[in-house]
Parts: sequence; structure tokens; C-alpha cells
Amino acid sequence: MTDLAARHHDGPLDDDARRVLGEQELELRLVANTDETAARHWNQAVARGFLDSELTEVQQSAWFERQTQRRLLGVYDTAAPDPDRPVATFASWVTELSVPGGRGIPAAAISTVTVAPTHRRRGVLRSMMTGELRRAHAAGVPVAVLTVSESTIYGRFGFAAAAMSGQLKIDVRRGRWSGPCPDGRIDFITRERFREIAPELHDRVRLDQPGEIEMPVGHWDRFAGTRPDAEKPERLRAVQYTDTEGALRGVALYAYEENDDDFARSKVQIHRLIAETPDAYAALWRFLLELDLVAELTASEQSVEEPVLWMISDRRAAHLWVGDHQWVRILDVPAALAARRYPASGRIALEVTDPLGIAAGRWLLDIDAAGEATVSADVPDDVPVVRLGVTELSAVYLGSVSLATLAAAGRVEADDGVAAAALLSWPVPARLSFWY
Ligand SMILES: CC(C)(COP(=O)(O)OP(=O)(O)OC[C@H]1O[C@@H](n2cnc3c(N)ncnc32)[C@H](O)[C@@H]1OP(=O)(O)O)[C@@H](O)C(=O)NCCC(=O)NCCS
Repeated sequence: MTDLAARHHDGPLDDDARRVLGEQELELRLVANTDETAARHWNQAVARGFLDSELTEVQQSAWFERQTQRRLLGVYDTAAPDPDRPVATFASWVTELSVPGGRGIPAAAISTVTVAPTHRRRGVLRSMMTGELRRAHAAGVPVAVLTVSESTIYGRFGFAAAAMSGQLKIDVRRGRWSGPCPDGRIDFITRERFREIAPELHDRVRLDQPGEIEMPVGHWDRFAGTRPDAEKPERLRAVQYTDTEGALRGVALYAYEENDDDFARSKVQIHRLIAETPDAYAALWRFLLELDLVAELTASEQSVEEPVLWMISDRRAAHLWVGDHQWVRILDVPAALAARRYPASGRIALEVTDPLGIAAGRWLLDIDAAGEATVSADVPDDVPVVRLGVTELSAVYLGSVSLATLAAAGRVEADDGVAAAALLSWPVPARLSFWY
């Protein structure tokens, strides 16, 4: 754990959040990762909150072994018949968010947010979220990120969808492969081998993909079906791509869904595809698109401009459904803006409002010819101004949501919205390849 991650993990609870919850006779507590009994109660509350069944012993122990880096918060109602099971849960940990320019910025990833139906809509989430955002900011974490069950919840706290995800469905009979045919080789590997090599590949590619974060502990085992609580892991197939020099450059994990009425019309779902080179990308997609007995291929959490759309003979063979995916909330404007690169030089003044007061202020964003920014509070009068909320600034942060679009939607006010949009954009569409 980095110093920042440890500071975030071990930081005290927010006094205001404790006080507000205390006024309702509710107690906000940190759950120690080593306290197995308390952690298991906490996890059962999460399952209940997400409409899952009561967790089994196997699921509980598989989870307990993999939660050690998370800061676990629980809200307890001591008057409830089962006072050990929290009525609200909230977890976070420090990860690295990839930002434009092949670099990363520390981010507080937030997950497993639940409030029991018995305690909903009385401000429990608000207390936990505002308290934890203040705490993360105080610990020095510049950005918070999350994926959401409902897109209506988090805008009020300054979060915005900054990376969209594409759900792709390809009629493989119609869209024949028209892309390159690289000379390397594809080989089947075991799920265990996938589990072994995929993390390093993800780490080698993630910084070049704005919107990605480090893979949370436990996710690789879930993908590969190597957790004791994995469901139907035997359905998964894995392949690797090695280039002509014999270097490993990509992996894919997929599953078949057989069509009992017509064996030649089975479906394939891609669970993960990681490619370090264009050759690996082409070879893996080609392999999957040319599988015999398959009529349809689906893949979730893809880029909205997935290159494979340009590698099939008929663009209309592919259907792409786009949804919000990686939500970002800037906590420290100067640190966040200085961390990413920009496509052109220029200067703009940003006047940022924040309903929680954390990131409000007025800054000069000064970008040099190399696309590097300095951010200062010393703002000259002759610089074009953009007035926006922290939600809108967070939306454009990864370079995929255009400030010009937000201006057209009446969500930002800009002296020259198109020029500002050009400065804040980035040519690689932001993408996050999984949920957390
Ligand atoms: C979503 C959830 C955590 C909200 O908790 P809560 O304690 O009822 O929320 P609060 O009472 O603190 O509400 C805070 C604000 O969010 C709003 N809000 C809460 N849940 C909302 C929802 N599902 N959709 C839209 N707005 C919502 C409230 O109206 C309130 O708005 P306001 O303060 O601007 O008036 C809770 O309903 C839940 O556990 N849902 C099921 C699990 C889930 O989806 N969790 C989120 C995972 S990303």
C-alpha cells in the first residue's frame, strides 16, 4: 500500500457524518478488515442491499480473503433486532486512474454502497458520501471514482460519467473479418494460466487507456473463475496471443452459449480481451469473430470507438449500445488538472462551483506546447473564462465528454466554449473495462 493509500485507509471518520447520523440514533463505524465476524456481517448487509441471496460460507470466506485493502464503513442501528448487521455499507480504497497522456492519478475508488430498505431516504447515503469525500480530500486524494447501479444518484455529489462503455453485439455471419491478419499465434491456455498472465498485461496497457483503474483485488479470480465461489467456471475458455518473437502480447477470455435448436447459431460472449499491440488486438478479435458454429458475439464494457468496428466487412453487422460507466469526481482541481496532458497549448480560466464546497475556486489552466499544464490561483483578466460546476468539470476531465456539448446543454458557461473544448479534449476515448 502506498503512503497515500494507507492514509486514506486508516483515516478517522468524518465528525459531521457521525454527528448527523448520531442524531438519528445511528452509529457510523469503521470495520476492521481483520475482524472476521464484523466483516462478514458487513458483507451480508451488502448482499441484502444489492438484492442478492444470503451469502454462503464459501462466498463469505472467498470474499474475506480478498477485502484487506478496503476501507469498510458501516452504519449501525443498535435498536434493531440484529444490531451487528449494519444498515448501511460503504467501501473505498486508493487506486490509480488513467488520465490523458499515458499517466495515472491517485483516486479513491468507492464501491458496495448500500442503505437498507428499512433506513432509506433519510440521508444515510448523503452522510456517508459527503463525509468520505471530505476525508479523502483531507488525506490528499485528488479524485474519486465509482461505477453505479443507477445513474440518478451521484450527480448531486459532484460525480459525472466521464467514460462511457459500449455494449457490442456483432452478427458474425454478416460482418466478416476485413482487418489485418497478424503472423503471431493464438493458443488455448488454462483459466489458471489466464489468471497468472492477465494482471501483468492489464498493468502494461492500462495507463494508455484514460478511464481505466488498477484491477481491484479479487477481480482477477472472479473473471478467471479461480475463486472457490465462482459460478460455472468450466464455461470459460481462454486464449493467448504471442507475437513472431514469441512474446506474449494479449489474452482473451470468453464463454459459449450453445443454441440447442441450431448448433450453428451459438453465441459467444467475450469476458475479457487485453491486447498490448495492434497485432494482438487484431489477432484476438479475428479469432473470436471466426469461431465455427457461432452466429453472434457480444462484449460489454468496450470502447465506444472500438477499432473492431472498422475491421468487419459490414458496419451494420455491429450494434453498439452506449451507457455511462466510469464516474469521476474531482476533489482537488489543481492536482487533477496538472496530472493529465492536453492536445494543444492555450490558457483558460476555470471558475468552479461545488455543492459540497470541496473543489470550488478560480484557476488559470496554462498549457504549454508540449501539452503540459500548470494550474495557478493567479488568474489574469484577459483570459477566456469557463464557469462550471465540479460535476461538469469532472465530466470533461478524461477528455471524452466535450465541453462544447455541455455548453450546448446549458450546463457550462464559456466565453469561447469551442476553444475550451478543444483544449480539454483527448483523442483516445475514455474507457473502463470492468465494474467495481
Ligand atoms: C442508493 C441508496 C444507497 C441511497 O441511500 P439513501 O440513504 O436512501 O440516500 P439518501 O437518503 O442519503 O439520499 C441522498 C440524496 O440522493 C437521492 N437519492 C437516493 N437514492 C436515489 C436513487 N436511487 N435515485 C435517485 N436519487 C436518489 C435522495 O433523494 C437524496 O436527494 P437530495 O438529498 O438531493 O434531496 C439506497 O437506496 C440503496 O442502497 N439502493 C440499493 C443499492 C444501490 O443501488 N446502491 C448504490 C450502488 S452504486
